[in-house]
Amino acid sequence: MSKFFWLPDAVTQNAKNIDGLFGVIFVVALIVFILVEGMLVVFLLRYRRKRRDQQGLAIHGSTKAEVIWTVIPAIILVGLGIYSSGMVYSFQQPPADTYTIKVTGMKWSWSFEYPNGAKSYGDLRIPSDKKVLFEITSKDVIHSFWIPEMRIKQDAVPGRQTRFWIDPTVTVDPGQGKTYEKHIICAEYCGQNHSKMDADLTIMNGGDFDKWVAEQKVKPVVDANAVIQANGCASCHSVDGSPSVGPTWKGLADSDVVLANGQKVKADANYLKESITQPGAKVVQGFNNMMSPYDQLSPEALDNVVKYIQGLK
Ligand code: CUA
Repeated sequence: MSKFFWLPDAVTQNAKNIDGLFGVIFVVALIVFILVEGMLVVFLLRYRRKRRDQQGLAIHGSTKAEVIWTVIPAIILVGLGIYSSGMVYSFQQPPADTYTIKVTGMKWSWSFEYPNGAKSYGDLRIPSDKKVLFEITSKDVIHSFWIPEMRIKQDAVPGRQTRFWIDPTVTVDPGQGKTYEKHIICAEYCGQNHSKMDADLTIMNGGDFDKWVAEQKVKPVVDANAVIQANGCASCHSVDGSPSVGPTWKGLADSDVVLANGQKVKADANYLKESITQPGAKVVQGFNNMMSPYDQLSPEALDNVVKYIQGLK
């Protein structure tokens, strides 16, 4: 981990490279700024009008000066362009031995799938000792996967896969994870709860990570509260009857709900499950069909969430 000026921690080699690029651009810009402003002040003083009747000199261009002030900035810009585009392309070109994590954005949460099939919601963990490739997509609209500590924002586009890879530079001792709470941020406006679309990043010791990811495979997160929190359900559904983007959960179970087409249905367990996995199937009157299908939940997690809703009388 290292700090560069006032910037957030830099936890990957890419982040350090970006900070180096930032430093170079900053210094070049600073030199140009001092030069231009300094000359402005010097000229203001040196060539000011000293007598009331003094006439200015009429100058009709200077080819030499124009060539100089065109060629120098062009060389600087082309140099910075080559330097930075090489870096950007390198993030997209993973080496062969990366550990691949699939990242899916949806309104309004992030989910992560690891190579062994384990999944986590709102909680990204990476091993400190492996190069990690993120394969990113979206279930609905365009989101943007942004981790300030990695200095990269990458759009999550529905129907497409985008990617970047990282090489962590943090050393983590066994048992000592480094967590950045809510530091994974959606950086593309994606609707009403865009600002709440975040996730935690934890960098783990390699051995700890292997254990954790194997555990997730055999016993995924199924506790209702954890599932609800990780999937951001509460950003659209209140549990106390107060109005929100989606219907409140209070008193919902076993009530009669009126659908958009005027039809009445009973909100039994099957209805609740269907409304989570295929929200567009039976939309309640007065609400928009805007929820993404949460079909990535395990059957047990789904059962527990339904039981939780049934408990909110
Ligand atoms: Cu997703 Cu903003």
